Amino acid sequence: MDRIVIEGGTRLAGEVRVSGSKNSTLALIAAALLADGTTILRNVPRLRDIETMLQILEALGVPAGWDPELPSALRIEGGAGVRNPEAPYDLVRKMRASFLVLGPLLARCGTARVSEPGGCAIGVRPVDQHLKGLRALGAKVRLDHGYVDASGPRLRGARVAFDLSTVNGTQNVMMAATLAEGETVLENAAREPEVVDLARTLTRMGADIRGAGTDRIAIRGVSRLAGVEEDVPGDRIEAGTLLAAGIISRGDVRVVGIDPAQQKSVLQKLSEAGAEVSVEADAVRARAADRVRGIRVVTAPYPGFPTDMQAQLMAVLTLASGSSVVTETVFENRFMHVPELRRMGADVTVDGRSAHVRGVPALSGAPVMATDLRASAGLILAGLAARGRTTVSRVYHIDRGYERIEEKLRSLGAVILREG
Ligand code: UD1
Repeated sequence: MDRIVIEGGTRLAGEVRVSGSKNSTLALIAAALLADGTTILRNVPRLRDIETMLQILEALGVPAGWDPELPSALRIEGGAGVRNPEAPYDLVRKMRASFLVLGPLLARCGTARVSEPGGCAIGVRPVDQHLKGLRALGAKVRLDHGYVDASGPRLRGARVAFDLSTVNGTQNVMMAATLAEGETVLENAAREPEVVDLARTLTRMGADIRGAGTDRIAIRGVSRLAGVEEDVPGDRIEAGTLLAAGIISRGDVRVVGIDPAQQKSVLQKLSEAGAEVSVEADAVRARAADRVRGIRVVTAPYPGFPTDMQAQLMAVLTLASGSSVVTETVFENRFMHVPELRRMGADVTVDGRSAHVRGVPALSGAPVMATDLRASAGLILAGLAARGRTTVSRVYHIDRGYERIEEKLRSLGAVILREG
């Protein structure tokens, strides 16, 4: 099984381009099911999660795959070809975002059967809000032997007030509503950029959506949507991770191919910790000549500090002068990187939803184990700054969400390689 080996202590410097957003792509692949005709997505990252989504489409009977002629592009046939509206357990359990096909399948086929995603390492993560929204649109939803069985030959627009902010829940119900009769209003909708990306693409397909990016989204149903060609925007979490890599190594990294407006909360925290941050139209540069300072950070739905950047920021803060408090409010079990960071010499204790990080002058390289996608990114960052060698095992977690991470870091000067 692959491992990533890092010789820590080199300063990272230079420019790096981010890949397309994983989470936006996953929703856009699901959205392609709503269309009549072919959708082409460009700037798609080659990641395990994307492959899993393609396998789901294959299981549904929808031709979808990498375009042989265009670089980094997917070609997805519309949902007219769905032969079997069922997403099986073996695929859904690999990736919760597979559940995003439920809304489009229901809207297209009038019926859908999708495995319940179940728990995952970072918490229970129920789908009750997805189901609440689809039920409000008139679907009959039943849980049957670990599967969600939904039927609704005629979905009707309705008001849906989410009990909490859910990104994929908002996206799922938004997609179903595009083909429902009449108007749907989503209240307490998630405001994440990935919701806005999805709304933009659906609108180009012919949907009538207003308010994406606010907590109230109004969708007027239309009778059909058409396939489109779309460029996937840069991945804001990969961008934040690469900036954090520069800072933890006391380097100077410029990340290009992103919308800095989406990085505000991350950039604010990096600045507060003492990094020098400068913003351009589609790039951000961050430098840190010295140790960073301890800060307080609380994860929250967008525009708050993203939970998907929590492990990476914590890695940076383990080396700060002074103490930090990192509070996780989005997922209940997202501190699994803490015991691994401690093995590298970090001084972190967890008390409920908060981690207390007392900065240490240096980390020491150690063999560590990745437990989930973003935790593994945090461990790689720690390894970049640690003295000596760090080996990160269970790299498949990182391959779910970072495209060629070791190559990108190497291009900035890191001593990092993958061992088979
Ligand atoms: C998405 C992202 C993930 C990110 C997360 C929060 C994708 C593929 N994944 O996940 O990277 O960490 O947003 O920014 O886009 N919840 C419920 N009931 C529901 C739905 C969610 O209780 O029906 C809870 C979850 O358990 C969690 C919180 O709501 O505690 C937020 O989860 P949600 O925004 O739904 O995360 P995802 O959309 O699954």
